[in-house]
Amino acid sequence: MFDLAGKNVLIGVSGGIAAYKVAELARMLVRGGVNVKVIMTSSGQQFVTPLTFRTITGNPVATSMWSDPASPLPHISLSEEADLMLVAPATANIIAKHAKGVADDLLSTTLLAARGTVVLAPAMNTRMYFHPSTQENLAALRDRGVVIIEPGEGELACGDEGIGRMAEPSEIMEVLERELKHASDLAGRRLVITAGATREHLDPVRFISNPSTGRMGFAVAERASRRGAEVVLVSGPTVLACPAGVKLVPVVSAAEMKQAVLDNLPGTDALVMAAAVADFRPSVRMPKKIKKRDGIPEINLEPTEDIINEVKKTTSECLVVGFAAETDDVVENARKKLTEKGMDLVVANRVGEPDSGFAAETDLAAVVSAGDEKVELAMMSKSDLGDVLLDRISEMLEVL
Ligand code: CTP
Repeated sequence: MFDLAGKNVLIGVSGGIAAYKVAELARMLVRGGVNVKVIMTSSGQQFVTPLTFRTITGNPVATSMWSDPASPLPHISLSEEADLMLVAPATANIIAKHAKGVADDLLSTTLLAARGTVVLAPAMNTRMYFHPSTQENLAALRDRGVVIIEPGEGELACGDEGIGRMAEPSEIMEVLERELKHASDLAGRRLVITAGATREHLDPVRFISNPSTGRMGFAVAERASRRGAEVVLVSGPTVLACPAGVKLVPVVSAAEMKQAVLDNLPGTDALVMAAAVADFRPSVRMPKKIKKRDGIPEINLEPTEDIINEVKKTTSECLVVGFAAETDDVVENARKKLTEKGMDLVVANRVGEPDSGFAAETDLAAVVSAGDEKVELAMMSKSDLGDVLLDRISEMLEVL
């Protein structure tokens, strides 16, 4: 388990019955050596008293902007020292206020001043949770880099069954550990990450492409940015929103992607080629739409430039990470690719199954380097795979 000792976590408790579970979470954090401070809204205090948190954390509980003469600017001092700020339970009201930047009490004002990662654990009735306003507010916060721990399903305080129950303290604890561990281990590093499919046009309206959605590259970019790296994300066409703090360079074809990667290479510590780059393109791109009445066109293909090879030709000394999407002998084929292309790391990824590869939520994958002897594939979310990869990149950069 990651050593949390010495970390500072600020918990905002807003008005929901799940506040009692947050007392348990605070105890878990304190046991892990974390310095926990708590802000309670006036509604939060209807469910659990400040004395509960005062006793568990050993720290005074802040309840108002104006109550502590020793700390005239509590929103600044509390946010300044916190490595991470968690709001649990996060009601629809505090979510809406934070999404819109409202600062009308100590918790909402401190959220605006937060320096480190902000994590929200929503808890509310199912209808409130699925109300378009709440969903829009959560989406806006997610886009801004706020970590949302999805509520679970079950019996709610009102007696209804459904989604809206705050995540369990152990689940929240896992997220906090992950966020605190990676808080800024890639600070000062620059990563260029490619994502998605390229499109190789036959004419203005038709192209050759593949089913890559970009989710893998976007997940790596999101994790890298959260871990403090400067991230340039070169992506083929996608519907995904650019993660907070990441510079997006949109491209269409393999040739454009190659150029964007080369242009952004100076000063880069690692290139992560998560894109599914087309290997072939039509040798001629017709300037006007090919008409059906002119008969079936003959399409000649030519190879695209291999971006990794082009990068290898430059003087750049950045780490090169490739992806090997394979249906069979996944690790063996990935190893071959690693050597053939002179890469530092390769992500061996099984494709062609519903739970792994293009558009899947999870991947059966492993990160492989030349020295790794026994490699086992493991099923993980694209975000977790991103973290596993970034851990390896971070280690390799340390010894360079
Ligand atoms: N890649 C690249 N430039 C290309 C094509 C692929 O840089 N024109 C990168 C991909 O982003 C990926 C890695 O190379 O990181 C994949 O290697 P590659 O040998 O191209 O894989 P496949 O196309 O899947 O190869 P094969 O058909 O041999 O399985």
